[in-house]
Amino acid sequence: MAHREQYVEGNKPQNGIHTALRVLSYLAHDRLYLWIAGVLIIITIAANLSGSYMLRPIINDYIISGDIYGLIRMLAILAAIYITGASAMYLQYRLLNRIGLRIVTRMREELFRRMERLPLKYFDTHSHGDLMSRYTNDIDQVSTALTDSLTDILSASLSLVGILCLMIYISPLLTLVMLITMPLMFLTARGIIKKSRKYFKDQQDVLGNVNGYAEEMISGQKIVKIFGHEKKVSTDFDKLNNKLREKSGRAQFYSGLMMPLMQNLNILNFVLITIMGALLAIFRGFDVGGLAVFLQYSRQFGRPINELSSLYNSLQSAIAGAERIFHVIDEPKEPADADDAMELMTVKGDVEMRDVCFEYIAGQSILKGISLRANRGTKLALVGETGAGKTTILSMLPRFFEIKSGEITIDGHPINKIKRESLRKAMSIVLQDTHLFTGTVRENIRFGRLNATDEDVVEAAKLTYAHSFISRLPQGYDTMLDNDGSNLSQGQRQLLNIARAALANPSILLLDEATSNIDTRSEILIQKGLDKLMDGRTTFVIAHRLSTVMNADIIIVLDNGRIVEQGTHASLLALHGKYYSLYEEQFKS
Ligand SMILES: Nc1ncnc2c1ncn2[C@@H]1O[C@H](COP(=O)(O)OP(=O)(O)OP(=O)(O)O)[C@@H](O)[C@H]1O
Ligand SMILES: [Mg+2]
Repeated sequence: MAHREQYVEGNKPQNGIHTALRVLSYLAHDRLYLWIAGVLIIITIAANLSGSYMLRPIINDYIISGDIYGLIRMLAILAAIYITGASAMYLQYRLLNRIGLRIVTRMREELFRRMERLPLKYFDTHSHGDLMSRYTNDIDQVSTALTDSLTDILSASLSLVGILCLMIYISPLLTLVMLITMPLMFLTARGIIKKSRKYFKDQQDVLGNVNGYAEEMISGQKIVKIFGHEKKVSTDFDKLNNKLREKSGRAQFYSGLMMPLMQNLNILNFVLITIMGALLAIFRGFDVGGLAVFLQYSRQFGRPINELSSLYNSLQSAIAGAERIFHVIDEPKEPADADDAMELMTVKGDVEMRDVCFEYIAGQSILKGISLRANRGTKLALVGETGAGKTTILSMLPRFFEIKSGEITIDGHPINKIKRESLRKAMSIVLQDTHLFTGTVRENIRFGRLNATDEDVVEAAKLTYAHSFISRLPQGYDTMLDNDGSNLSQGQRQLLNIARAALANPSILLLDEATSNIDTRSEILIQKGLDKLMDGRTTFVIAHRLSTVMNADIIIVLDNGRIVEQGTHASLLALHGKYYSLYEEQFKS
């Protein structure tokens, strides 16, 4: 089992700015909150900066002149300013946090809705693990960035502008001195970011592999155990895990370097300004209060830069995550119903296929000109070797996949002219690989028709002989099923699926190996139930056990995507062809 490399794709944003803007476009819904938050941010920053600025009059006018009462008054004002700032900051954090969470909720909602509307083909070509990771990892990354970083980024950038303006106001010359060290800071930051970005990407890739491997081995536990591969699996996992440790170590080392380096550069900056400021104060009469305030600002100036650079990595992976999410959201939907698509009012159930061709993958034709007809009440059986295309034929009817050429009609209406919902309502399907949802037995059967009463549910279960085993379950119809009904036997799961289909009361019934997991005695019972169910409905049955299909009105024998024989059991036997040999194999051995 080769582990998947699915996570490797796209950890590095391809079009970062575009994606970031698109994430932010979700903010449009919360414009009012955003304005309020903006005002709060400005209040916070203004309080912060003016608080610092007040040092200038405090030093120049009160401390130097020794005016104690004035000083106390000024300190009271200062306290009021800082309290206002702190409250505004608190509110702003809460608000932006809420906005961030709402964006993420909306993205998740959109992602989920889109998944419900994706054509089945998408799920065939994308691993479930990968889709799941978009729901979890990627959404988480965006969420963290939005809830934690959005506030920081906004206030850091606004602070930068504010501080810069005030510094220029206090002393353009000192501002110039301060800006000399800026390029140095930027270059260092860029160097580190470049280095660490590579390791962060490596780390994400390997993390993806570790997750993918673990996921695959967990779901394949039984196979691993039965073939005795535990040791190999563990060693493989250790290798990946160690690689992850190594890559994470490097990524963290480099990103950890950022803070101390920046702080040292800040100190250098501070020293330069102090010296220059002191010279200015001595020779040019620059006021001491002004110098103190300027020094204060220069320290504050470094902070948003530090913040922005340390946010960089989290932003980078958030944007990569958003990109992966948008990838799914932008996936073409199941094409919409045509404008003139019709609604099936009453369905008789005459099904016809004319020369239907189909391919899952372009160029590899699977159905090669299938023509068949099943009128209302007909029981049509499809038989043939594994891979012959039986399940594929059934999947064409509810339009799980679109045919390549030919035509399928129901009651004479081409199915691509019928609304999908209406089309699918007309039929019930019991699949080869059954699926049950987390919920009670009753809920699972009711999935067939949501407005069915409890009596309807029981009746459907009785009809399909599921009732007796359900009654024997500890909580009967209220027994909880979880994890795809793993607390039931395969046959029991199948019975529930059949009951679900029965409850839907469709005109067309599609049964794919519906009785293959059921013992012979129960099968005879279910057969009776199914016979009752099939009464008056058009039924397509697939079964490997020919005993199940012997009484069908038409038996279609498929071979490699073509119909090779068709007729009744007796006529096909008399033909001494493919059906005959299949029959011989099953009953004469
Ligand atoms: N989702 C898919 N994507 C690509 N190829 C597929 C897909 N599903 C089936 N196939 C191919 O189509 C062919 C027909 O498959 P199908 O499932 O219809 O066979 P079947 O007759 O139902 O077999 P079985 O008796 O084993 O259920 C097979 O060769 C299979 O490889
Ligand atoms: Mg099949």
